Amino acid sequence: MNNDSLKGSVALISGGLGDLGSESARELAKCGADIAIADMQSADAFTALKKEFDELGVKSHYQQLNVTDAAAVESWVQTVETALGTPNLIIVNAGIVEQHDFSTITPEIWLNQLDVNLNGAFYMSHYATRHLLAKQKKGRVVFIGSWAAHAVHPHIPAYCVSKAGLRSLCQNMALELAPHDILVNEVAPGTVNAGLSAQVFKKEPDIAEKQTQNIPNRRMIESIDVAKEVLHLCDPDIKHHVGSCVLIDGGNTLRGSART
Ligand SMILES: NC(=O)c1ccc[n+]([C@@H]2O[C@H](COP(=O)([O-])OP(=O)(O)OC[C@H]3O[C@@H](n4cnc5c(N)ncnc54)[C@H](O)[C@@H]3O)[C@@H](O)[C@H]2O)c1
Repeated sequence: MNNDSLKGSVALISGGLGDLGSESARELAKCGADIAIADMQSADAFTALKKEFDELGVKSHYQQLNVTDAAAVESWVQTVETALGTPNLIIVNAGIVEQHDFSTITPEIWLNQLDVNLNGAFYMSHYATRHLLAKQKKGRVVFIGSWAAHAVHPHIPAYCVSKAGLRSLCQNMALELAPHDILVNEVAPGTVNAGLSAQVFKKEPDIAEKQTQNIPNRRMIESIDVAKEVLHLCDPDIKHHVGSCVLIDGGNTLRGSART
């Protein structure tokens, strides 16, 4: 793809101030897409990233938003449509994780993870694709899933269930929307040396090294690896992925759970 491949596209990215979301936004912007980000963080946190988009010559828009608020998500999509045009690249990325096994997790912690990771993903993809259907425009939806949906991880059960639900949401949407040329797919990373996992590594530094040794290809994934896959699924020349899951985990799922 070159720096004009996505010219005329508008990318909608939830959790776009985080490590994986911002890297995906950069990759899309480098190919000419205008960028709309929503995140829980205040607008000040968008200043540095906005400068990067300005330098790349693409338009950008930021809104502070909680993806669990369905009405706010609906109105965000409308606001972006007015500001930049109909979003046609929908990157469903916002996510949280809390470590609790079944004996310590509370219903509140359980629900919160499902609410952000699954319900929030539904609100965003639902409202954004409704706009595409109404305008009879083609588009792409990319869910950021996780290898947690593909193997059992006893210390993060709510996260695993939320990402397994996301897998099914992706497949159900993909089948219904493919005839409208709205292609819905998922990137499911293994443990990334950034974002949610980096927070764990900060608290327990020896875990990063241990986990790397257990990855079959002995390589930790970086944010840019995930962003490249997002870009790939948004490439106009890639036309046959429908409900696919691009699992990039170095073979981890073949081995089993994240804990050693
Ligand atoms: N880092 C990893 O190892 C890893 C592995 C597999 C999948 N993922 C997935 O990647 C995605 C991005 O995570 P990350 O690792 O970049 O973490 P991150 O914490 O850097 O980014 C997540 C972003 O989402 C935002 N967010 C959280 N709750 C929100 C809400 N309710 N509404 C709006 N925004 C909200 C946060 O403010 C943050 O900016 C998540 O879906 C995560 O599950 C991460």
